[in-house]
This record gives sequence, C-alpha cells and structure tokens, in this order.
Amino acid sequence: MNYQKDQNTLPLKEVNFEISALLEDYIEKSREEKTFVLNQRSPKSIAEALQTEHHFKNGFKTTAALIKFISIYLDNTNHLRNPKYMGHQVAVPQDLSGIPDWIHGTVNNPSSLYEMGPAGATLEGFMINWMLQHLGWFKGEDLYDFKLNKKNGSGVLTHGGSIANLTALSAARAAIAPEAWTKGSPKDLIVIGPSTAHYSITRALSIMGMGKNAFIPVLVDENEVLITENLEEVYNQQLKAGKRIMAIVANACATSTGLFDNLEGVADFCEKHALWFHVDGAHGAAALLSEKDKHKVKGIERADSLIWDAHKMMRVPALCTAVLYKNVISQINAFQQKGSYVFHDEDVIGMDSMPYTVECTKSALGMKLYWSFALEGEKAIGNFIQNSFQQARDLYDFLNNHEEFYCPYEPESNILCFQYRPDLLTNKQQLELRYQLINTGDFYITSCEIKGKRYLRTVMMNPLTQKDHYILLTIAIEKQAKILLESDK
Ligand SMILES: Cc1ncc(COP(=O)(O)O)c(C=O)c1O
Repeated sequence: MNYQKDQNTLPLKEVNFEISALLEDYIEKSREEKTFVLNQRSPKSIAEALQTEHHFKNGFKTTAALIKFISIYLDNTNHLRNPKYMGHQVAVPQDLSGIPDWIHGTVNNPSSLYEMGPAGATLEGFMINWMLQHLGWFKGEDLYDFKLNKKNGSGVLTHGGSIANLTALSAARAAIAPEAWTKGSPKDLIVIGPSTAHYSITRALSIMGMGKNAFIPVLVDENEVLITENLEEVYNQQLKAGKRIMAIVANACATSTGLFDNLEGVADFCEKHALWFHVDGAHGAAALLSEKDKHKVKGIERADSLIWDAHKMMRVPALCTAVLYKNVISQINAFQQKGSYVFHDEDVIGMDSMPYTVECTKSALGMKLYWSFALEGEKAIGNFIQNSFQQARDLYDFLNNHEEFYCPYEPESNILCFQYRPDLLTNKQQLELRYQLINTGDFYITSCEIKGKRYLRTVMMNPLTQKDHYILLTIAIEKQAKILLESDK
C-alpha cells in the first residue's frame, strides 16, 4: 500500500484555531489561579485519560478528538503561570513565547547548518553577538558582523546547560591537551571547582573519559559558596601530585542556594596561575542584564568560557543555552572532528554552528532566544530579572518576620531556601512537608540540601507572585506541618 497523502485530513485552520483558544484559556486560568498548580496523578491514570494507546494506533480521527486530547494533556501539566508556582529554575514564558516552537515545528529548519535554516542561524548569530557585547567580548562593527573574527569572542547556542558545560570543558581540554581528541584524555588532567558545582560538570568529565574523580572539589562555606582562599592550597596539592589543571570552575550562581561565587577572586587566581576560567552561569549570568544586580557577576568578563541558560532567567521555553568564549580559537578547537559534508570554506554564505556543538542537528534556538526579547523589547527582560531577584528578597524579608521560619542566608538571586520550625521538624520531615504541600496542588516549591540539612526552596520565576502569595504559602506550610506532626505522633 502506498503512503499517498503527506498528512492526515484534519483541517489545518480549524485545528490551529481551536488550539489557540485552548492555550488562551490555559494561560488565563493558570494566571487567575483557577487551576491547581500541579494535579499529581499516576502515569497510568494520565495514559488512560489521554486514551494514549487508542490514538497511537488509530490517529486522531476528528478535530474534536485531537482537541480533547490536548485539553486533557494541558490539565496534566505543571501550571507555571499560576503565581503559586515557585518551583524549579524553569522559565515562566511570556504568553506568546510558544510561537517560535510552533513555527519551528512547522518548518523544521535545524539551524546548525546555515543553508538548512538561514533565518534561525542568523538570529543565533545576532544573539550571540549581543551576549558577547554584554561581556565586552564583541569587537565587531555592529551586531550584524557574523564572521568568526580573531578580535572577537564567539559562541554557540546549544540544547541546555549540561551540554553547554560539556562543550566548554571540551574547549578547555583542547587548550591544554590538544592531542586528547585523537589519542584520548591524558590521565593527569583535573578540574578544580566548588564542591557545589552542578552535577553536569562531573558528568561532562566522565563523558570526556577523564572520570568524575578528575573533578577536585574545593570547600564551600556554610551557604555553599566557594571559599576562594582555599583554591591556592588545593592547586598546590594537585601540582605536587603531578596533576595538570585543565580549568577552574565557579558558580554564578549555585543551583541550591542561588548564591554567587566570588568571580573576581577566582579570576585573579586564574590569572596569577594562567589557568582556564570557566563560569557556570546557567542560572545567574542573566544578572548581567539587570543594572541593579550586575555587580554580583563582576569578574565574569574575565572568564575564558561561560555558559548561560536562556530557558532559566530569560523567559525562553526549554531548551536554549549559550556557550560563550572570550577567544574565538577556543570554540574552533573544542571539537576537532571534521565531517567533509558540513564544513565549508570561507567563501560560503552564512555560518554553520555545527562544527562547534555536540549536536549535529539542532533546533532553531536563535529564534527562541531572540523572540523573548523582541516580544517586549530588550530592557523588559532586564527588568524581569531585577524583579525576580527582588521577589526573593521580599519573601526573605517576609519570612524573617515569622519566627517559625528560618532562612540561612540573604538571597542574591531569585532562589531562596528556608526551613519551617527547624527546632521541631527533622530533615526527613522538611522533605515530607514539601511533598504534602505540592500534593495539595495549591503550591509548587522544591527542596534541597545545604551542608547536609534539608531545606524548602523557592525559585521566583513568576512575575505575578507577590506578597499575598507569600502569606498564603506560609499559611499552607503551617497547615501541612500540623498535619504531618499529628500523623507522626
Ligand atoms: C548551575 C547550573 N549549571 C548547569 C545546569 C544544567 O542546566 P540544564 O538543566 O539546562 O541542562 C543547571 C541546572 O539547573 C545549573 O543550575
């Protein structure tokens, strides 16, 4: 039997119209708190409600069936737009943020090869230049200067911070041990960084064949910030042990606490010993865009490589991360593996990011990133970042006025950790408290450990979250703690 039609018969216009209406309703209801933040159900009950197997086998037969499916799908999402969402470091997108994904899903132009997606690749080039400009790493005439240029820094967009860290660390290794690409990783290479570095750093080292033990953790203080003074001792110990230091990593900011390492201090140290300085700015590099907060990342411009997630603090739907280099040569050397079908000479129009990324095919990430700014204008995103940092500060001030709550530090970003009645609740109970709270569907918060102690954790991603919600949050936590303590009696 021939496959004659290139699509099913559902009417495009009607389906698009109905989906738009559903999404509009979703946004409105979430925003007005007319839905749970998260209605936790078992995967089996979701699969059944969606009639997963039936549609899989038969296809959607009618617009109504498709719309019903999407409606149930939306019911079973975590409603990030609800102001009581204070959970993970995942952007609450703008209302029109989904459009680049819709367009990409329709035209499917992977932008890693210029000729397969000229518009997407162009926007990526533009946004990379703009980011480099914020770091002082762009020396071109204007942001339309797209050629790799020895005077400039450079960068690529990639699918997420974990791949971005792998990419940047590959570039760092290429600088100290260029033979590693063909001969394998030398055994004497190590990376030094805070013990609180994101797990994607050690994961990258394992993937690179260096082993996770190649990461040498440096002590952090009681709030998990790198103790910069300890770098020297660790460095000397490693030299004595015959190791070569491939890179020093710093957090901007730490995933758990949202606190920033002293980037100036680490940059001084790296400069003194001529070491590669990598900043994991997945979450906090965005502070660069807030006039009020950019001092927190002072020194970031002295890094050799930086990763910066757009899907965390820049309202971009997952995934989109920039890997940025101060020197273009770092990018060129990161992956010295050439496939003749993708690499062209200088005279070819446009630019291909494929030689410089882990991915071969990648999404039109430039469009996603550009879109977020274009929707509201450049300044609005800076204001959004400043506002979300202020929200965490406001919540901190509010909780500090309630003696049942304990915050171990003043927030520097939009992440705040706290405990409810640490005198009464064990670590395990703090965690149970979080589960009980999110199972009510009313709030969504996370949790983390700091120095072996369990904390509740909020990440203020939603600009609609305000004081009323803080009050309701404390009431809800108190209520759940009471239930917990009674059930444990
Ligand atoms: C500091 C830091 N680095 C890297 C990552 C990984 O980023 P992604 O989730 O985009 O892979 C995270 C994620 O939370 C992070 O906080």
